[in-house]
Amino acid sequence: MRPLADGILDPQGPAAERIAGLWWIMLGLGVAVFVVFGISLALGLFRRSPHSDDGSIRQAPRVSGRWFAIVGVVLPAVIVVAVLAATVVAMRAVPNSTSGSPGALEIEVIGHQWWWEVRYPGEGFTTANELHIPVGRPVNLRLSATDVIHSFWVPRLGGKTDMLPDGTNTMILEADAPGEHSSQCAEFCGIGHANMTLTVVAEPESEFVSWVEARQRPAEEPTGEMELRGLDVFMASECADCHTVRGAFEDDATEGPDLTHFADRPDLGATFMPNTRANLADWITDPHAIKPGVKMPGTELSEEELDALLDYIEGLE
Ligand code: CUA
Repeated sequence: MRPLADGILDPQGPAAERIAGLWWIMLGLGVAVFVVFGISLALGLFRRSPHSDDGSIRQAPRVSGRWFAIVGVVLPAVIVVAVLAATVVAMRAVPNSTSGSPGALEIEVIGHQWWWEVRYPGEGFTTANELHIPVGRPVNLRLSATDVIHSFWVPRLGGKTDMLPDGTNTMILEADAPGEHSSQCAEFCGIGHANMTLTVVAEPESEFVSWVEARQRPAEEPTGEMELRGLDVFMASECADCHTVRGAFEDDATEGPDLTHFADRPDLGATFMPNTRANLADWITDPHAIKPGVKMPGTELSEEELDALLDYIEGLE
């Protein structure tokens, strides 16, 4: 995963570019103030002592009232107003709704402790912990939460927007070029907060359309003996109470991530680790040993049941 810190200074979309520009202005002004302050301090320190040669104390030179007013009042006021003006200009340049953006794509992202539900209402499917967007097209994100306040933040593409349990906020996301961008929940939301991550994949329109078509399909029907046995295990254990597999059974559980195309996702546990058979086995058996605080309970299964369940889940492409 790409470090978030350099993400802010490596903008890959119009909103992030404006925010990075503002950041550089604030850094420039901050450095200028620091340098002036440092030079003034050094001059004061190395100034001749107010003691006269004969040991008596001379009166310290007085700072003129005009100089005090300029450096102490006017200059800080000018800097604060300049930063405020730059902030207002940047805020106005970063739209938070697609009114006036024809062709914008609508995506709903819902924060859960501690994963992301992602819905494409126009395309008619739901996925989890993966967000694909087409390059060069504004995306209208509708952000909310189910439990506590989370915050959506993709540093290379835009600013932060709170995800509230009792309302919907919107933001525009747009990527200039194809690429993968890491995202991090930016509001402390409990023990799993630091691990509430997401990878945003910006891809050319044609690849995006292929991805959407793949996600729109219901889950592959299990055919092999082990996969069918795995589906039985899935239904008999607690998995089906929280997870949905579209096409496999009638359910719309959203307590846990949608697993319809789970095997096609590169990672598991909200990008916590690579989606491999060994990791998946550990995750199903004892997720708490891997990711503290995770809401999913561990599942006690025989070796044969676990093998069958892994076969079934790994077939969900
Ligand atoms: Cu969700 Cu922090």
